[in-house]
Amino acid sequence: TNALKIGVAGLGTVGSGVVQVLAANGDAIAERCGLPIHLSAVSARDRGKDRGIDVSGARWFDDAVAMAADPEVDLVVELIGGAEGVARSVVETALSRGASVVTANKALVAHHGTALARRAEAEGAALAYEAAVAGGIPVIKVLREGLSANRIERVHGILNGTCNYILSTMRESGREFGDVLAEAQELGYAEADPAFDIDGVDAAHKLAILTALAFGCEVDFEALHVEGIRGISALDMEYAEELGYRIKLLGIAERRDSGVVQRVHPCMIETTTPLAQVDGVFNAVATVGDFVDRIVAEGRGAGAGPTASSVVADIMDLARGARLPVFGVPAERLKRLPTLPMTAH
Ligand code: HSE
Repeated sequence: TNALKIGVAGLGTVGSGVVQVLAANGDAIAERCGLPIHLSAVSARDRGKDRGIDVSGARWFDDAVAMAADPEVDLVVELIGGAEGVARSVVETALSRGASVVTANKALVAHHGTALARRAEAEGAALAYEAAVAGGIPVIKVLREGLSANRIERVHGILNGTCNYILSTMRESGREFGDVLAEAQELGYAEADPAFDIDGVDAAHKLAILTALAFGCEVDFEALHVEGIRGISALDMEYAEELGYRIKLLGIAERRDSGVVQRVHPCMIETTTPLAQVDGVFNAVATVGDFVDRIVAEGRGAGAGPTASSVVADIMDLARGARLPVFGVPAERLKRLPTLPMTAH
């Protein structure tokens, strides 16, 4: 029978999660797609490591780029991470032979999204990245498909599960920053380098992607104002609470007449607002469009299960033949919008 043969590069938290989702729900997934998804090849750094998953039916590649180049692999799933190096070569190698790619790599899409989208579309391949933003929340689909009839005015939200987990756990328990961070790492929420989380870089990667989708512009990570949560103390949180506020790390993108404002920084938000109630590893994204008005999507923003849920949904879309423009408009038409200073009105 016909099957979609996928190759998974990277068997860390998310890669192992993907193998588990396919094993657990493979029959229903095959029914929904009209064909089975076959784990044909895998690649990771350490072949001997016990990951608690069965990949014995797949061909093993020590070299992920060689796997991406293999003509037997129909679709490449890149779950290595990082804007450069092996991850970037894997994605470029697959796209240049016209093979579609599913990735959870927000750093890669934030830094090279425009060029990769142009290459994918020129080759007739797809580049899908639902899992790169807000873990299990299908926010890419919300913006690109669900709200595509609107002029988007604003997107903002809680985009980093690790920071939200740290901030809400510190507030609830009065525990120390470092202690809670270690817990977020153990739960598989944090980046390989957790500085990306707590310095706001990971949220900024995601916001740069949302901005491109929302406003039909090139991805411009360098243009963002970025500030993290290292400077927030338990005392700040107590004071905020007394005044009726919670401290959240937010990413905010707004349209102005002359361009866009993109920023990531800790915010005091009123305790009674919906985003203030979003705690733990949960993320939430609020979007305002001219006809839909306001919609909010909430869900787990990190962790194996939720992130793998988004990766597999992308694989299924491509198995069904979906070939939407990567950022909602054909990549050669993405505009270069000026990024304005934070104070612009
Ligand atoms: N480290 C990220 C987070 C993982 O905590 O949100 C999901 O991108």
